[in-house]
Amino acid sequence: MKNICIMGTGYVGLVTGACLADLGNRVRCVDIDAEKIKILNDGKLPIYEPGLQELITNNVSRERLSFSEDISGSIRKSEVIFISVGTPSDGDGKVNLLYVEGAAEMIAQNLNDFKVIVNKSTVSVGTGKRLMEIIEKKSPSKAEFEVVSNPEFLREGSAINDFMHPDRIVIGTNSERAYGIITEIYGPLYLIETPFIKTSIETAELIKYASNAFLSVKISFINEIANICDKTGADVHVVARAMGLDGRISPKFLHAGPGFGGSCFPKDILGLVQLAKERGISPVLVEAAIKVNNAQRKVMVEKLKKLVPNLGGKTIAILGLAFKPNTDDVRESPALDIIKILLEEGCTVNAYDPVALDNAKKAIPEINCYDNMMDACEGADSVMIMTEWNELRQIDLIMLKEKLGAPNMVDCKNIYDPVKMKEEGFNYLSVGRPLLEAD
Ligand SMILES: NC(=O)c1ccc[n+]([C@@H]2O[C@H](COP(=O)([O-])OP(=O)(O)OC[C@H]3O[C@@H](n4cnc5c(N)ncnc54)[C@H](O)[C@@H]3O)[C@@H](O)[C@H]2O)c1
Repeated sequence: MKNICIMGTGYVGLVTGACLADLGNRVRCVDIDAEKIKILNDGKLPIYEPGLQELITNNVSRERLSFSEDISGSIRKSEVIFISVGTPSDGDGKVNLLYVEGAAEMIAQNLNDFKVIVNKSTVSVGTGKRLMEIIEKKSPSKAEFEVVSNPEFLREGSAINDFMHPDRIVIGTNSERAYGIITEIYGPLYLIETPFIKTSIETAELIKYASNAFLSVKISFINEIANICDKTGADVHVVARAMGLDGRISPKFLHAGPGFGGSCFPKDILGLVQLAKERGISPVLVEAAIKVNNAQRKVMVEKLKKLVPNLGGKTIAILGLAFKPNTDDVRESPALDIIKILLEEGCTVNAYDPVALDNAKKAIPEINCYDNMMDACEGADSVMIMTEWNELRQIDLIMLKEKLGAPNMVDCKNIYDPVKMKEEGFNYLSVGRPLLEAD
């Protein structure tokens, strides 16, 4: 059992805190956002993540997990401090380290005893060293400490399972003492094999950027292939399946669509580009993935224009606003990018999402939000499917057709069968499956 402080109660911090408490540790979660701490202490969640509410309630009732505004006190009572604060992109794509450095300063002020400071936030290479410098310089006590880079790979929507069953745990440190403490914390996750990657802080930091950049490149690659399919009559599903059966390629992240989004890939890939450029390297492949991704939003709108040629004054129903299913996170969501283009074209946008409506409305107040997908579609000139929520996979197509002003659908997630949609009387377009859709 360790006394642990988690700084930042966002998607990563809350899941990390709840899971580490569940493994038997005493965990204190703190945040500079007093409103979040109040919500948590009222027994509610500031975010949506499946299974998290139950896990938190269970561990709070067993007194292993608590939430506090008292950051100083929580740091002082803990041997291990996890930093899981936001690292947004600044204007030119560089990672903004304001929150991470702020957390380091708070730790320095409260360094009353030996502590291991574990950075889980995704940061540029060299940040671990910078944190060491800040803590060394600003700590009045000059107590001992070690900094560890421990990048997080969880995915929103399946975060608890990802945390509890990680493919690997990367531990970047030069200290055997810190390594021992971290492996003790994570040890219970593994019964037989422990895929710990012990490495330097710099390598650990780059592993996270490299992993996200690789997946982003893979998504942009299949989207480029999908666009070629659209022009050649090939079917991207079959191409992707056949590619994926090759063990060297793997079927994951080969789903054509509107491009990647979310709070990680877009900012992390930009961060890697900046990192490379600062060192005189031109990261051509990664930059191309960004270019393809940005263009893919427009490709989706061009598809819509095939069904609704003059968008000005038209009403478009958007089903799905979150950047992926099972989350309320709309940061860099493809749906929001496309909505912005539609609003510029003079469209009225009606939107539905099972959990992300409030966040989307905050980001784009011009959206008309509906609690019911059929109400959002009422009289619309077309519907666009933007997130593959389960409930959007089995829409009552007869009712949908009755509700819509015109039976037009752009399925940006390739959920529906083009042949069936045609039989149901829809003008249906998806991504990279043109032969099936042709009349
Ligand atoms: N969201 C993901 O799926 C995911 C996955 C892997 C890695 N990451 C990385 O993890 C980090 C956190 O991401 P997130 O999505 O959880 O962020 P988030 O924006 O949801 O939450 C960050 C929280 O940190 C708080 N905070 C800022 N400064 C603080 C301080 N000094 N002390 C205490 N709290 C402070 C903020 O108020 C906020 O509540 C980022 O670097 C992100 O790139 C995120």
